[in-house]
Amino acid sequence: MSVQKSADIGVTGLAVMGRNLARNFARHGHRVALHNRSTARTTALMAEFGHEGAFVPNETMEQFVAALVRPRRIVIMVKAGEPTDAVIDELVPLLEPGDIVVDGGNAHFLDTRRREAALREHGLHFVGTGISGGEEGALEGPSIMPGGTAEAYKSLGPLLESISAKVDGQPCCTHVGPDGAGHFVKMVHNGIEYADMQLIAEAYDLLRHGGGRQPAEIAKIFRSWNGGRLESYLVEITAEVLGHTDAATGQPFVDIVQDRAEQKGTGRWTVQTALELGVPVSGIAEAVFARSLSGSTALREAARDLPGPTETWLDSAAADTFAADVEKALYASKIVAYAQGFNQIQAGSAEYGWQIAPGAMASIWRGGCIIRARFLNRITAAYQADPQLPTLLADEYFREALGDAQAAWRRVVSTAAQLGVPVPGFATALAYYDSLRAGRLPAALIQGQRDFFGAHTYRRTDREGVFHTLWAGDRSEQEH
Ligand SMILES: NC(=O)c1ccc[n+]([C@@H]2O[C@H](COP(=O)([O-])OP(=O)(O)OC[C@H]3O[C@@H](n4cnc5c(N)ncnc54)[C@H](OP(=O)(O)O)[C@@H]3O)[C@@H](O)[C@H]2O)c1
Repeated sequence: MSVQKSADIGVTGLAVMGRNLARNFARHGHRVALHNRSTARTTALMAEFGHEGAFVPNETMEQFVAALVRPRRIVIMVKAGEPTDAVIDELVPLLEPGDIVVDGGNAHFLDTRRREAALREHGLHFVGTGISGGEEGALEGPSIMPGGTAEAYKSLGPLLESISAKVDGQPCCTHVGPDGAGHFVKMVHNGIEYADMQLIAEAYDLLRHGGGRQPAEIAKIFRSWNGGRLESYLVEITAEVLGHTDAATGQPFVDIVQDRAEQKGTGRWTVQTALELGVPVSGIAEAVFARSLSGSTALREAARDLPGPTETWLDSAAADTFAADVEKALYASKIVAYAQGFNQIQAGSAEYGWQIAPGAMASIWRGGCIIRARFLNRITAAYQADPQLPTLLADEYFREALGDAQAAWRRVVSTAAQLGVPVPGFATALAYYDSLRAGRLPAALIQGQRDFFGAHTYRRTDREGVFHTLWAGDRSEQEH
């Protein structure tokens, strides 16, 4: 059978994400070639949604490749890891120089760098692309973070922009930077998502076990917060989840769900990468650890009887003021978590020479993705005002917001400690804020300790040079 070369874009891998992306392309008037390892998914898509647009179904990879106009634009949407390599290996011999291979899966950015380099050898473009928004976003408009060359983006960008979410008429898709930049930014996005979810969960826990409020009341509080500066998808869905009643028991849904949060690994990658880059992302790290701790059943069982404070919660008058304080503490902690994530993007960009514009990342996260929020406009504005901003905390708007919140933030963290409510995210954010503010850190003492046990030397505040004190001898100082 001869196949007409007519499709604008191809999607291989038609599970939930690939199927919805393919439908999204078709709904935007693009002709979409379809392929999946097992043909059942292609057949099912055609049967259910074939009427939605111009699809070109294919059984073999050869037919699929032959169905595409040149340069070919092929999106791989398969399970990340070895399956992605298997599909690339099958595709490469069938492609011609200038063709563009897009990996829309959740790949590690170092794998993307490796694949990009390998495909470049064949004259092919490899575009590692972060896609956020889950199943619904893929269909209705995700936030898209493509890496790869600027040349590839010229051909591919308009298609991706057409299917992305739009905010104020702007697509939530832009060229992030070369090779692995797109997947790096998607990884940090997910890390920030972990931190944001943890902070929201702590706010709930404080209102419940500090403020003595029931889930339905807390749902109302979150709903009201969503009308203000905390407006975001995560706060909105939090109100929905907290307001939901379990049909089987009549109990609040949140009370019948096991308290063990799972993870797929992008949060862990964010922290591992941050450790290697030397960027303190304590908010993201605490969120990843909190999920691990929640799942450490034996550890939790063994520690269940440890003594805690006798006070359990605040009286109702105090609880009202406390809720207002928690809102401020949540906002302040969120600013810190995002500031840390953006510092990681800047550090990755510097390390790999990507030239990522952080403000543009905040802008494409305003719609389509899980962390979409009103406050991302503020981040875009901060980086527009100063593209070299060393930390978001130094931006005028955020500086004022933190100044306004800090007294409440301290009350919340100290009340949590007194009542025995664990708030690792709030506490680490406040500690980060105070560490950055501090004129002198106790790191000076650590330098003294290091020099004492390991002759690691130190620098003085009053003159240049590297010094060592003869701690085991006469304690005189030597200059190195
Ligand atoms: N689900 C989400 O919300 C979400 C959000 C953002 C990104 N992602 C990422 O998007 C990608 C796709 O996710 P998904 O949930 O739609 O699907 P998935 O469950 O991760 O993967 C299933 C797809 O991979 C194909 N596949 C698996 N092994 C293969 C191999 N060795 N060779 C060829 N094809 C193979 C399957 O083909 P068969 O049908 O033949 O088995 C199927 O099409 C993943 O990388 C995921 O991490 C997912």
